[in-house]
Amino acid sequence: MPMPITNQNMDSATIPALAGADALQHIGGGFETDVYRTTDGRFVVKRKREALPSTDAARREARRMQRLTRQFSACLGPEHTIATTYIVAGDAQGRPGVLAIQPWLAGAQPLDTLRYAELDHATHLRLLHHLLVIIARARRCYRAHGIMPDLYGLPGGTAAWPSRAPHHSPRLVWDFLVRRTLLRSHNLLLTAAPQQRVVLVDYDLAYRQYAPWLRRLYFTTRFLLLWRDRWLIARRLRALAAAADHPRR
Ligand SMILES: Nc1ncnc2c1ncn2[C@@H]1O[C@H](COP(=O)(O)OP(=O)(O)O)[C@@H](O)[C@H]1O
Ligand SMILES: [Mg+2]
Repeated sequence: MPMPITNQNMDSATIPALAGADALQHIGGGFETDVYRTTDGRFVVKRKREALPSTDAARREARRMQRLTRQFSACLGPEHTIATTYIVAGDAQGRPGVLAIQPWLAGAQPLDTLRYAELDHATHLRLLHHLLVIIARARRCYRAHGIMPDLYGLPGGTAAWPSRAPHHSPRLVWDFLVRRTLLRSHNLLLTAAPQQRVVLVDYDLAYRQYAPWLRRLYFTTRFLLLWRDRWLIARRLRALAAAADHPRR
């Protein structure tokens, strides 16, 4: 995937590492993003599929995304976020686009694919406490800015999801309101041992392309649904405490 860099605002450590990587490996990834890993296994490169009309438009978009990522990172705190840098690059046809560069979280698992039953007690407890912290900080973010990070996300690479927007079909509404809880998030990953932090990898603004009233409705609903997630997590914490009090023989 040839991607000549036309403009960069990356830190000096990232640029040589990326330039030195002889190829990028497509690792499938996202719903609205192509996700690649550098062959040295150090970085993830995400290319947004959104077509941009000019290099200037791509630069503005990269700056907007960087500002938003900074805001969301400040909301969630360094322990639940990762460094993300945006650059403008042309594709093989020279069309400008925005790339997001992040460290590759080797061995990290999206909560969606995590087998909770196989987690040891301490890891499970720590994960749930991390989620409670993330919920509290996301709620504070909403109160301060009227928006919050997309803590849920959608599965990537499937035509079954015509849009990120739940209001487009009853199935998506059902998924949005009932199935897609924080415990099954695509955007939160549990990093590998020994750290095992819960971190957000997707800093896109949900519902950006919709009318302001619809976006407000979306974020208000998300804000309210965090109560549901808090309740689910509290219930799981109680079950873990009960299991610890009465271990099975
Ligand atoms: N830094 C990363 N390290 C490891 N895996 C990642 C990283 N970033 C993304 N992924 C994987 O790629 C998937 C899609 O990435 P994401 O940024 O959520 O794309 P989209 O905007 O399309 O939802 C994630 O759910 C995760 O499984
Ligand atoms: Mg995502």
